[in-house]
Amino acid sequence: MEIESVHPDFGARVREVDLTGPLPADVVDALHEAIDEHSVLLFPQQDMTDEAQLRLTRALGEIEENHVAFGRTGEIVEIGTVGNVIDANTKRDEADPHTTAMKGNNLWHSDSSFRRIPTYVSILHAYEVPDEGGGTEFVSQRAAYDRLTSEKRAEIDDLHVLHDYVFSRSKAAPVDDNHAASLPPIEQKLVRTNPRNGHQNYYVGSHARSIIGWNGIDSRRLIDELNELATQPQHRWTQQWQPGDTVIWDNRCVLHRGTGYDADRYRRNMRQSRVRGAGPTLEE
Ligand code: OGA
Ligand code: MN
Repeated sequence: MEIESVHPDFGARVREVDLTGPLPADVVDALHEAIDEHSVLLFPQQDMTDEAQLRLTRALGEIEENHVAFGRTGEIVEIGTVGNVIDANTKRDEADPHTTAMKGNNLWHSDSSFRRIPTYVSILHAYEVPDEGGGTEFVSQRAAYDRLTSEKRAEIDDLHVLHDYVFSRSKAAPVDDNHAASLPPIEQKLVRTNPRNGHQNYYVGSHARSIIGWNGIDSRRLIDELNELATQPQHRWTQQWQPGDTVIWDNRCVLHRGTGYDADRYRRNMRQSRVRGAGPTLEE
């Protein structure tokens, strides 16, 4: 496995590993270690299929079922489409409500930070990408935490935050009643520690609604401040997708967002699966 850094804060391009073939224990260990170290891993030219992606996802842990399908209908779905493609000849355009709902992904977030056990890693593979736009931006909340003064760190270290999907995503599109009912707001630690290397990070994003025990004004001031500090343009790394790219990112410590694209003009076909975290953040 050949690992080359792509940004001073985080991120690496990984070559000389086939994610679609057999995944022996030493390769899986090396992947976990690289995730802990680099937070975002780009693997170009992977000859991916859904079957191979599910095998990879399971090799890294327990698959996290898609909360949208589960909330709406109770169905367990292990892999889903990100983008606007329906099949080889059909796509959703800008006016399609699903396209609007997907724009919620263009707000900085950490996948499933609103679930009791949030996501460990997401795995996203690109099959078809727009000629313009359609990138995914990442930032490190570990590097952002390191940039705080020691006074600020001491102020936030023991705080808890309510994360709420309906709070964040209803900004993009109405959330279906069944789905909303399945996702009550969840309390999370504000500061998390990587169990292998001890690196600490704060954990916010658009699902972060309020600080437990704080009033609304002070809550929003702190959460907005932390989000803004983390997401300054110079701290971002953008994945400009090529078909065949697979990216694995550590939702415990990075934020990401889609950059948007014109769904009337372009097709975007990506497949996403997720690995469940080790447990509730309050038990970390
Ligand atoms: C995701 C996501 C953003 C994008 O797959 O979890 O937020 O680039 N994707 O569409
Ligand atoms: Mn996401």
